[in-house]
Amino acid sequence: MKSFMIQGAKILATGSAVPNSSLSNNQISNIVNTSDEWIFTRTGIKERRVLTGINQSVVDLGILASMDALKKISMDPSEIDLIILATSSPNDLFGSASQIQCKIGATNAVAFDLTAACSGFVLGIVTASQFLQNGSYRNILVIGADVLSKWIDWSDRSTCILFGDAAGAAIVQRCSNQNNSILNFQLNTDGKYSEHLSIAYKNYTSPHSKLNLYQGYFNYVAMNGKEVYKFAVSQVPLSILKCLSSLDMSVNDVDWLLLHQANERILKAVADKLSINKSKIIANLSKYGNTSAASIPLALDEAVQDDKILDSQIVVIAGFGAGLTWGTVVIRW
Ligand code: ACO
Repeated sequence: MKSFMIQGAKILATGSAVPNSSLSNNQISNIVNTSDEWIFTRTGIKERRVLTGINQSVVDLGILASMDALKKISMDPSEIDLIILATSSPNDLFGSASQIQCKIGATNAVAFDLTAACSGFVLGIVTASQFLQNGSYRNILVIGADVLSKWIDWSDRSTCILFGDAAGAAIVQRCSNQNNSILNFQLNTDGKYSEHLSIAYKNYTSPHSKLNLYQGYFNYVAMNGKEVYKFAVSQVPLSILKCLSSLDMSVNDVDWLLLHQANERILKAVADKLSINKSKIIANLSKYGNTSAASIPLALDEAVQDDKILDSQIVVIAGFGAGLTWGTVVIRW
């Protein structure tokens, strides 16, 4: 029987996957008017990975990242109770999580998609921790995966330089209250600015000839880079400070700052505003670009594999992006 007492939640394992095919700044400068120098100085990005196979989708990357995480702790997929797939680029608008559930053999898991763009993984971890802390489930697989290369206008130099494809996963498990490692969260949405970053649905200009109803299609990614930049640099530090203060913590307690990997200048500006030493920033966007919902779990997995993050260290994770949605989770590793 389920117990509805507040319990703890901890991240047991992480995993990640990127496509084999890389696309450098120089290669992009062959298709739009840009340069490696411009892209690197404005964003910190050198290259990104793109999914090129005709039948490949976010599901393929999600499966690889999930299996990587499961393998690290020798967990049988049938032990997973819930799968949350944070993505904005599903291969089925009804949801892609169930395809991952089936293909990894997570026969006992409920699975659903969660859409919150680049904040998706943060929202996913927070959602998972609710199910764990109230005792509903024991093991939850949270996947952040996106293949925005499929939604980019490759003739638009203001967006095509930024994004890459990837998936990251975390297995989160219920634990005793004393071992709780997802300490607190702080989440926000401001739909007033949704037009600053969108993959908008558009109607065809004429309605159906007999039914008088409109059908349509989805546009490419449209972004007001300057506004998104200003929003991230002003709002993300406030979210982090609110979350730390709810835990009676200060910036001095932070061992690692893991932000959504959108732009190296944003990472540095947020650290500056918080007076957090830049050596505490986890960054890998030079190799992968902005991988949307995958960026945080991909960087987390890499930092764990590199033995950067040590037991009991405080990791501040913050996501931000379309919606606009942003938020923070503070984790004791
Ligand atoms: N190469 C060369 N020149 C370029 C390029 C390019 N790829 N793109 C724009 N330019 C030009 C512009 O046309 C402009 O020229 P002008 O001055 O003659 O008009 C000039 O460079 C400056 O353009 P800005 O847009 O002002 O450049 P900025 O310094 O703001 O950098 C950037 C653009 C990198 C996009 C930046 O604004 C940024 O990173 N914003 C945040 C974006 C972001 O994080 N988005 C993802 C959020 S996560 C999610 O939810 C998916």
